[in-house]
Amino acid sequence: MKNYALDEFIADCRRISAHCAEPADCVLAILPLMERLLLGDRSFIRPEHLVSNSDHYSRNAIYISPDGNLSLFVLVWLPGQWTPVHDHGSWGVVGVLQGMLEERSFMAVDGAILADDGIRLRRGGVFVLPEKSLSSFVPNPDHIHMTGVPDTRPRAVTLHLYGRNMDSFHVYDVERGTRCLMDVPHHVA
Ligand SMILES: [Fe+2]
Repeated sequence: MKNYALDEFIADCRRISAHCAEPADCVLAILPLMERLLLGDRSFIRPEHLVSNSDHYSRNAIYISPDGNLSLFVLVWLPGQWTPVHDHGSWGVVGVLQGMLEERSFMAVDGAILADDGIRLRRGGVFVLPEKSLSSFVPNPDHIHMTGVPDTRPRAVTLHLYGRNMDSFHVYDVERGTRCLMDVPHHVA
């Protein structure tokens, strides 16, 4: 099978996202493309995309569209590194390049979240995504979760495509029932 080049993948995803009114249709169409990228020679990943940080998980940008409607990152998770509980405000497709990524989901007890306080979240199911597996999410209601790698597992490397420039997201304080919009830094290769 011909290797699926990054620029071809980006062009296909831009075309799909521009024509999909429904985010669930968008992730359905992009999942097999992400799979082709994962199963290819991965030559689009350069050493600078695999930079890790001992203080927190590392986000290395591969592509951010000029119109802000698409972004692709390599995330590097050292053992014991986790996101906070967060949402995305966008659809997203995730592929696991190496290791196993754990996802712990949260559910809003009262349905749609309309304010930044008074939020009641319940812990939901846990998913463990092995190498070459795929995952996706859609907004409205947004997908709320934390992801990471327990300290009992080795480093994981994952590929994340979002339907916007993922430079901020809501971070939830589950105990207090609040959330706030926070910038999410990334490393530009
Ligand atoms: Fe996430």
